[in-house]
Amino acid sequence: MARSFSCSFSVLGGDFQEAGKVSTEIKQMLKELGVAGDIVRRIAIATYEAEMNVVMYADEATLTVELMPKAVRIVVDDRGPGIPNVELAMQEGFSTATTQMREMGFGAGMGLPNIKRNADRFTIDTVVGKGTKLDITVNIK
Ligand SMILES: Nc1ncnc2c1ncn2[C@@H]1O[C@H](COP(=O)(O)OP(=O)(O)O)[C@@H](O)[C@H]1O
Ligand SMILES: [Mg+2]
Repeated sequence: MARSFSCSFSVLGGDFQEAGKVSTEIKQMLKELGVAGDIVRRIAIATYEAEMNVVMYADEATLTVELMPKAVRIVVDDRGPGIPNVELAMQEGFSTATTQMREMGFGAGMGLPNIKRNADRFTIDTVVGKGTKLDITVNIK
């Protein structure tokens, strides 16, 4: 892995058909680029949770993956309702998922806590009525 590498994907809110495809693609891509299995796994979990949150709660997002010599970084920048209370949203089990989403198996309220657990660095910037930006880094080694 001599070079740094970055690429972007778009994720559409409400699109449950395509949900999870971007994280699957990123997982595959990082594997092919030779990133260690445990790092790929942590990135895949965090990316999947972030992608699902866009599908469930936002309008659209750009998801950027950046592979650097010492870290993998995922930035998910969405246009959407924002998160009114981040501290509450970060709590295990907190979810505003609809009945319909819960019937599909979502809404355990573990997404954001799982992102935090798998990241070495994780920040949320959110503006109500505008959108949310997640910045997730997993260190290599
Ligand atoms: N991108 C987002 N835009 C708006 N709200 C969000 C976003 N991501 C998470 N949230 C809010 O934070 C809550 C907790 O998210 P999460 O831990 O992933 O649980 P879940 O997805 O099961 O609801 C969500 O129920 C939602 O209210
Ligand atoms: Mg979630």
